[in-house]
Amino acid sequence: MLLRASTCERLHCFSPVYVPARRLDRSRSSPASVYKLLRPSRQDALTSTVIASAPITFRRLLPPGDPAAAQEIVTDLGLHERPSDTPTAAERRRPYVVLNMVSTLDGRATLGGRSGPLSDPADRALFHGLRAVVDAVMAGAGTVRAERYGPIVRDPDTRRLRSQRGLREQPLACVVSSGLAFPPDLPLLCDPDSEVAILTSSRASLPETAARVEYVRAPRPDGSLDLDAALAELHDRLHVGTLLCEGGPHLNTALLSAGLVDELFLSVSPLLAGGGLVDARASADGGLASTGSTGGEPPLRILAGVDFDPPLALELRSALEHDSRLFLRYRVRAGG
Ligand SMILES: NC(=O)c1ccc[n+]([C@@H]2O[C@H](COP(=O)([O-])OP(=O)(O)OC[C@H]3O[C@@H](n4cnc5c(N)ncnc54)[C@H](OP(=O)(O)O)[C@@H]3O)[C@@H](O)[C@H]2O)c1
Repeated sequence: MLLRASTCERLHCFSPVYVPARRLDRSRSSPASVYKLLRPSRQDALTSTVIASAPITFRRLLPPGDPAAAQEIVTDLGLHERPSDTPTAAERRRPYVVLNMVSTLDGRATLGGRSGPLSDPADRALFHGLRAVVDAVMAGAGTVRAERYGPIVRDPDTRRLRSQRGLREQPLACVVSSGLAFPPDLPLLCDPDSEVAILTSSRASLPETAARVEYVRAPRPDGSLDLDAALAELHDRLHVGTLLCEGGPHLNTALLSAGLVDELFLSVSPLLAGGGLVDARASADGGLASTGSTGGEPPLRILAGVDFDPPLALELRSALEHDSRLFLRYRVRAGG
């Protein structure tokens, strides 16, 4: 996720792809290294840029346990073993939905309009690790545009591993949109290997794309998108048993309001970014201005839109730590 100003650092900068050291430029690798971490190029291909010499390990704080690498942690989640036709999934008639977000300690979801500056290699390792074990990855159109989404899984070894696990090589990329306005050079839509499902209330279609595009049209009578029906169709027609939602804040609020999220994975970045609403008296007295990144708009948090009244209740399931960053896994309590 460091390519160009308009490309998401959390998405693309570092792939959690470990390859045998012999495949790398030996002049830059430590002889003791067994594995190296590679970085994709601006064009999303893997390059031989060596950026780390050992797999990142996470301290298991809750439940306590031995340190583990991202691959072991995501495998332990068992998401890849949750087929869409299990009795619970059939009862639910929608995918099992996991929401994955990153925020600063003071709750900011973006810096300078992107999530990348909140991320680090450990965060990216889990971010990409999660993508490797689910049937589909979903994001709102605002996120897809801001972060310039590309192919969801780029690494051939990870694609092979997915096949061995009985998953399709590339997760279905689900994009929620009502306006269906995307830049023509959006990497995801330009990728012939990607399968994209557009969840929309609109009857419109995209101009021709290199990616294969399906439409999940679920309009409510008032013209808005019925997310419940859209997820049911993802489950029943497109066989999506596990769905990883990567935001953004408006989509998160809509999903949570509709009771469509099972778990929240929150990566808490050890940063304080400030900003936010300015107290009117402080403003008058001290001339303080909001330092929000969006030109006077309140800075984004992981949710945007309506208040939850009462607030939703969550239950902590696990906590990991790496380099002062916390990775919290919460279950959303049924019925709020
Ligand atoms: N910290 C993090 O982990 C994280 C994660 C993701 C994104 N972000 C940041 O969040 C920002 C984007 O925020 P956002 O709230 O605008 O993102 P968003 O929720 O991804 O996008 C909003 C857009 O998605 C579509 N959409 C969302 N919910 C919909 C619904 N219920 N029905 C129909 N369409 C729906 C609409 O698209 P159309 O406009 O096409 O109709 C809407 O304008 C970016 O700066 C990004 O970097 C941060």
